Amino acid sequence: MSSALDSSAFKSPVFLFGLTTGIALSAVVQYVLSYVATPQTQKSSLSVPVPAIVPPQTISVPLAAHIETITRLEKDFTINTSMMQKIVKQFVNEMRKGLLSDGQTLKMIPSYVCNRPRGDEVGSVLALDLGGSNFRVCEVILEGQKTRLRQKKFVISDALKNASGTDLFDFFAECVSKFVEEHALDLNVKRKLGFTFSFPIEQTAINKGTLMHWNKGFTSPGVVDKDVVELLADAFARKGLHNIEIAALVNDTVGTLMSHAYLDSQTHVGVILGTGTNAAYFEPMDKIPKWRGGPVPSNEMVVNTEWGAFDNEQIVLPVTKFDRRLDRASPNPQSQIFEKMISGMYLGEIVRQIILDLIGTGELFRGQSSENLQTPYHFETAYMSRIERDHTTELSDTKAVLEDILNIPSTTESDRRLVKRICELVGIRSARLSAAGVAAVVTKINRFDGCTIAIDGSLFAHYPHYANRMRDALREVLGLTAENIVLEQARDGSGQGAALIAATASY
Ligand code: BGC
Repeated sequence: MSSALDSSAFKSPVFLFGLTTGIALSAVVQYVLSYVATPQTQKSSLSVPVPAIVPPQTISVPLAAHIETITRLEKDFTINTSMMQKIVKQFVNEMRKGLLSDGQTLKMIPSYVCNRPRGDEVGSVLALDLGGSNFRVCEVILEGQKTRLRQKKFVISDALKNASGTDLFDFFAECVSKFVEEHALDLNVKRKLGFTFSFPIEQTAINKGTLMHWNKGFTSPGVVDKDVVELLADAFARKGLHNIEIAALVNDTVGTLMSHAYLDSQTHVGVILGTGTNAAYFEPMDKIPKWRGGPVPSNEMVVNTEWGAFDNEQIVLPVTKFDRRLDRASPNPQSQIFEKMISGMYLGEIVRQIILDLIGTGELFRGQSSENLQTPYHFETAYMSRIERDHTTELSDTKAVLEDILNIPSTTESDRRLVKRICELVGIRSARLSAAGVAAVVTKINRFDGCTIAIDGSLFAHYPHYANRMRDALREVLGLTAENIVLEQARDGSGQGAALIAATASY
């Protein structure tokens, strides 16, 4: 793409003005950019850095254009308190509808998991965990309020995500076989297995359920509408893996909730903020009018909300043109709208869409682009983390991401400040929407007096400021009661939770 600053630009009044007032204007640019680059939550801070004197050629675009760009993006991406309150209200409504009948936006899937762990479970159980980007095989040794874990992680290639269902499930069986061999597990002894399958499943028993649709870039044909436990059992049989009883089919949020509840009985909600996003929580049986599964051994059940689909109709979510572009080009358009605004699979792609737009208008990189930047999903969410963490005076790490990784020919400091601000806006919006989801679930179960939310996933664990941004947002919507809501990092919870559920499936 050609540069937006051709030779005529050098004769423009803006350039001449810039030249004659270069140093003073640069100082102002520094001042303004350092102000606008301050995160939303700290905008009222008075600690503005002393303006540095920089040569005029560092001004990539006229000052007014940058301010306008940032103001415009802030307007599109800011979720203020009153918007969050509307979102929470709509969320609770959608949860109620989903509990009333099938076919609603929020699927609110009863998980058949009724019992909280007692904390005295013991034994060795296998667990498989298909999340978004990886497949894990684990042996979980339950030792009563303590677990030990041996695991092996396998990367799921893009090719495999789109391969036939038989190939996909044969791959799972192959991974299990490798694990069994490496750890010399004796399969003459019958073993229970918990299968974490982190996609929307219409569950019909604790170990039975059909895939409703794929998400997170999977399209593997021959799996939708099939019982994934049967598909796994068939693949085990083809591979000669006998004596493994698939005792539980579990969503990752349900696993996370259960494994954390094993350690902390105040845990009422499990959330995943990773490649995808979702939440599960304990709901009293009399609040699940659509339940037709017969008597259960408890007066409550874990419900998998599948919150990634919240507001697919786009009634309250402030969806931008960038979100719409991402959605249209995705393999699952018009679905998982909430997930597409929040989760790790998509954040980098939203930033890429914004950057491309600003290159097109000449507002960034003097209109220069690169093949890498033109390639969908090549701006990874991990780059956003790196950029948000960059506190060097000239944003040299951001420069490395943009110039060395993404091959943008050259960037100015003000370009980089703008990119950093874009990352902040998209990152903050994600955290605030996640907090709105948490606030809605806490409101639904009326646990304002105290509740632990177990959260797993790379966004919550590694994205800079994510947890604090969520806490700030929770305080805004819930006021002082937010102090009673503890957001806690859960690690590797889904595999352990699946094992725990498999171990206790019969009681
Ligand atoms: C899936 C959920 C899952 C979440 C987090 C979503 O795409 O629909 O079932 O819990 O990702 O992995």
